[in-house]
Formats: sequence, C-alpha cells, structure tokens
Amino acid sequence: MKLLLIGSGGREHALAWALAKSPRLTALYAAPGNAGIAQVAELCDLDVADHQAVIGFCKDKGIDLVVVGPEAPLVAGLVDDLEAAGLKAFGPSKAAAQLEGSKAFTKGVCDEAGIPTAGYGRFDSRDAALAYVREKGAPIVVKADGLAAGKGVVVAMSLAEAEEAVTACFEGTFGAAGAEVVIEDFLQGEEASFFVLSDGTHALALATAQDHKRAFDGDEGPNTGGMGAYSPAPVLTDPLIAEVMKTIIEPTIATLAKRGTPFKGVLYAGLMITAEGPKLIEYNTRFGDPECQVLMMRLKSDLLDLLLASVEGTLATASARWRDEAAISVVMAARGYPGTYAKGTEIRGLEPLASDRLEVFHAGTKMDGARLLANGGRVLNVTALGSNVQEARKTAYDAIDAIDWPEGFCRTDIGWRAVAREKTG
Ligand code: AMP
Ligand code: GLY
Repeated sequence: MKLLLIGSGGREHALAWALAKSPRLTALYAAPGNAGIAQVAELCDLDVADHQAVIGFCKDKGIDLVVVGPEAPLVAGLVDDLEAAGLKAFGPSKAAAQLEGSKAFTKGVCDEAGIPTAGYGRFDSRDAALAYVREKGAPIVVKADGLAAGKGVVVAMSLAEAEEAVTACFEGTFGAAGAEVVIEDFLQGEEASFFVLSDGTHALALATAQDHKRAFDGDEGPNTGGMGAYSPAPVLTDPLIAEVMKTIIEPTIATLAKRGTPFKGVLYAGLMITAEGPKLIEYNTRFGDPECQVLMMRLKSDLLDLLLASVEGTLATASARWRDEAAISVVMAARGYPGTYAKGTEIRGLEPLASDRLEVFHAGTKMDGARLLANGGRVLNVTALGSNVQEARKTAYDAIDAIDWPEGFCRTDIGWRAVAREKTG
C-alpha cells in the first residue's frame, strides 16, 4: 500500500516509524515532514491546507491511504474532501472533529449521553460570563470554545484571575476561538490520557499515558504542547479503563453515530480521576504529541492494519497488542520555548543512539546538507523502553547526556509521578 502521512512533528515521526514496519507498506510519503521522518518516508512539498493539491498528489501517486496526524486539517475537513474525491483517509470528518474543535460541542454530547464531566455554563457575552463566575466563585476554569493551541484554558484559583480570563476571551485574545466561552467547575484528582480507535460504531481501547504540560521541572512555568510523556499511566487500572469505556467512550461513539456524524479515527480522552470516579476533561480527535511516541514504542501490532480497520469499519474483529514494558519520551526543546527561541542551531551526536530500547523521534528538525538543524520549539523526543518507568527514564536521560545540542533544554523530572509510585510500591 502507498501512504501519505500529513504532519511534521514528533507524533508524525513516531507514526511514520511504526508504519514503516508494516509488511503491507510499499511507499510512504509525508507532507510536510521533517528530517527524522525523511529517514523512513519521502518528503513532499505540498501545502496541506490546499485540499485540492493534496487530492491531486494522491491521484498522481496512486495513494491508497492518507493518515492525518494533527487536528487542524481534521477540523478543516481534509478527510471529508479526500473521501468525496474517492480517496481513503484515516481520521474523523469535520463534523466529528468538533469533539476537539469546540468545547461547547463536547459538553452538549456529554449532556445528551449522560457522560460524567465537570458542570459548566456556556456564554457568548462577557457580562453573563462574569455574573456566572461571580456566583460560582473560585477555583473555576475558563475556556475559550475553539482551538487555541492549548492556550485557551485558564484554571483560575482566584475570582480576579477568572474575571481577567473572561475579559481576555471576549477582548479577542484567542480570536474566533474565544467568541464563546465555557466555564467549568474545578475538578480535583489525577489527570490521565486514554486513547481508543473507532470505526464509527465500535471502539477499540488502545493504551493509557500521562504527559507533562508545563515547561519546567516541578510542573512550573508556562503551559506547552507537552514536555514529556509515559505509558502506561498507573492510575488508570484495568477496572477504571473498563469504567471509562462504558461511561465515557462508548456513549460518545453511540451519540455521534446516532446524530449521523459517526466518529472514525483516534479519540484521545483527557480524564480527571476524581474521588467520584473518572470524568472527561476534554477530547482530542488525534494522537497526543508526545503521547503517540510512547504508544508507538509499546505497540506490537501492525499500525497500518489498525488504522485501516478504523477506516474500513472492521475494528470489532481487530485487536491491539502491547509490550508490557513502560515507555517514556523526554522532549528536548529550543531554549526559550514556549516563548521566543532561535531556529537553525546545530544538533550533533544522534547517530549512535538508536537501539531496540531507544528512538530519538524528530519533532522540529531539518537538514542543511549533512548538518541537522533545530527547526521548531519542540525539537527532539528521546523515547525509551524499560521494565518500568525508572529504567526507561534512565535510558532516555543517558541518551540526552550524549546529545550535543547546547541550545536545547529538557525537563529532568519526566515520569516523576510514576517513579514515586514505583518506589513506594
Ligand atoms: P484542556 O485544554 O481542556 O485539556 O485543559 C487544559 C488543562 O487544564 C487540563 O489538562 C487540566 O490540567 C486543566 N483543566 C481543564 N479543565 C479542568 C477542570 N474542569 N478542572 C481542573 N482542571 C482542568
Ligand atoms: N500532549 C498533549 C496533546 O497532544 O494535546
């Protein structure tokens, strides 16, 4: 099969690396890709926002399946346009991707299906939103409705902070994403991520992970796209996973099917494990980044088979096999990320590192002749396997010590929560 992979981050490098292992693969193209993806795929110069150009490329090359990594093309309806042109694509339609594209949409699905989630109000005027937060008091969570690259959420510990967040949304800080605001009750507990594949009617559980969203050690500093992750998430025990499938995932899939907008693709549930049980914080409609990197490291099944089963509606008879071991991914970012940072600094020392226990996925790199250059905020994802998180973490950080990139930094405490659990048994 000939595949086209859309995206350019560490998630897409991990997907490309896993897809390249499939015996069914005959050609892999990536748009726009990065220097790591280029090791296993042919990069193509395609504007992925130009759907007609993507369709033209697929017809020209005889592409059998398009795999969409990031959310923006999904929300823009790339999968719909590919399907309308008679092409196969992995990922949700524009309508189903509203589970990520609109927080109010997801809250509506939760109401309709009785899915456990934080109580909320939704507002399209500043005064009504301010009156609501004043009535509710802090702590309280203020969210811009639309996609805001992870920056549209304020967990306000004081009323003043909540008022400021409401005002910022309605003053246009998040553009169109903030024209509507969702205000939620503050949930207390441990967060975990759960990934499933769906073919529109059936959901296949994949695996669990936890990530680290803050930039600096000790969960300090600004929010980022994610500075590291590990899988599995020990807090999500088998009985809890069964509960999440029954109370959250399956009702969501059933509701979207009933509405005539079935969800196909990866559903990524951000969960809070509260004293009353698991509650849905948010959905994403794609693999997490860097959660995908740890999932791919643990996946034993053929990824291409699984993605095709989602597209073709045969997940009920599919299964996914995983290594029992733990995987961890540590993000190396350019100094200054998530604020301003330099591009084009040289990275050395990666070649000897890869082994059957370690992969350095590229998140933002490009080649300049024979030189490897940083080309983004998050640049490398040093990803390792181990018998437990402690062992995987040592392998990852030993590799980081060997990487020669003075302009990069990483958190030194990725996996701390799981390591603390392992130490206390
Ligand atoms: P979201 O983009 O909706 O995942 O929110 C970003 C982060 O804000 C989450 O990963 C949580 O850490 C936090 N958060 C979101 N909603 C809530 C909530 N209702 N209660 C507590 N924390 C929340
Ligand atoms: N790591 C968080 C995300 O992919 O949304």
